[in-house]
Amino acid sequence: MTETEKKRSALIIYLSLHGTTRKATEALCASLMENGVPTDVYNLSEFKDKGDMEKLNTMIPSYPLIIFCSPTYFHHAPPLFTDFVKNIPDATCDQAAAILSTFGGVYSGVIQFDLAKILYEKKYSLIGGIKVLTVHCLTFQEKKPFYEGHPDETDLTAIREFGKQISIRLMNKNRQRYSPIAFKDKPFLLNFIDDHIHKMKNLTWAMPGIKVKGEKCTGCGLCVKNCPANNITLEQTAVHGKDCTFCYSCVKICPSGATKSFLKPAAPAVKWLAKIFARYEEQTTQQVV
Ligand SMILES: Cc1cc2nc3c(=O)[nH]c(=O)nc-3n(C[C@H](O)[C@H](O)[C@H](O)COP(=O)(O)O)c2cc1C
Repeated sequence: MTETEKKRSALIIYLSLHGTTRKATEALCASLMENGVPTDVYNLSEFKDKGDMEKLNTMIPSYPLIIFCSPTYFHHAPPLFTDFVKNIPDATCDQAAAILSTFGGVYSGVIQFDLAKILYEKKYSLIGGIKVLTVHCLTFQEKKPFYEGHPDETDLTAIREFGKQISIRLMNKNRQRYSPIAFKDKPFLLNFIDDHIHKMKNLTWAMPGIKVKGEKCTGCGLCVKNCPANNITLEQTAVHGKDCTFCYSCVKICPSGATKSFLKPAAPAVKWLAKIFARYEEQTTQQVV
């Protein structure tokens, strides 16, 4: 990268437990490159131990723009992602930040506002945010998963347009710096409920449990490798710890069907919640800022 290119480069850090945020991230990356912003992309799941995270943190100050891409879990970012953002270094002079969040067509929650607040306190200049409609990953066992096919071409077009806009904003020295309030797009009452959801430990206590049938487990280790929370160890069979984020990627990936969860009730619950939240939010991909 030449010195001029470095001055307008971007770093994308994403988390994707079922692959949809990765798809959205790839579209954003392609758009930034097309619009003259050399972009590096890192998957947070590959930076599992403390040493790795520190390595990623040392890279952050050298990019003029950092983009954070995360799925919505119970209206917030998964704790793993929020904790990571809380620990990044403060911004260097006029370093910019943008946010892409994905949501499964129920409710996009307060993830944009949560992350914007942390980044603002760390002195990043907030230049954009987009929420992207995706298939709801809790319904992956259904014949027709909720919002199957999303992000589709319309969603990807909106992401590309967002990429174009933040490229322009990045290069504009007199660009507008948004306050976290601009990322708050919900009525007061819903924000109040969200605060309480957060206090209830993100509702994980209400989620269907995950069981490993010891005799079926082949010890292949795929679930260990894929667990974003580093919560599974391999003894004779896969053993789950206490830090489960209930993404169910271990259930989805298990080739022998040893890791199981009864997710049938999730689909009607998701549809019911989506109907309620449809009164407050259009369930489409939208630029927040
Ligand atoms: C535990 C859990 C909680 C979720 N909470 C929400 C939510 O509050 N609102 C929503 O619209 N989608 C929710 N989703 C759906 C995900 O946000 C959506 O499927 C997202 O695209 C997953 O991203 P990924 O494929 O990159 O992992 C939830 C999914 C899981 C597994």
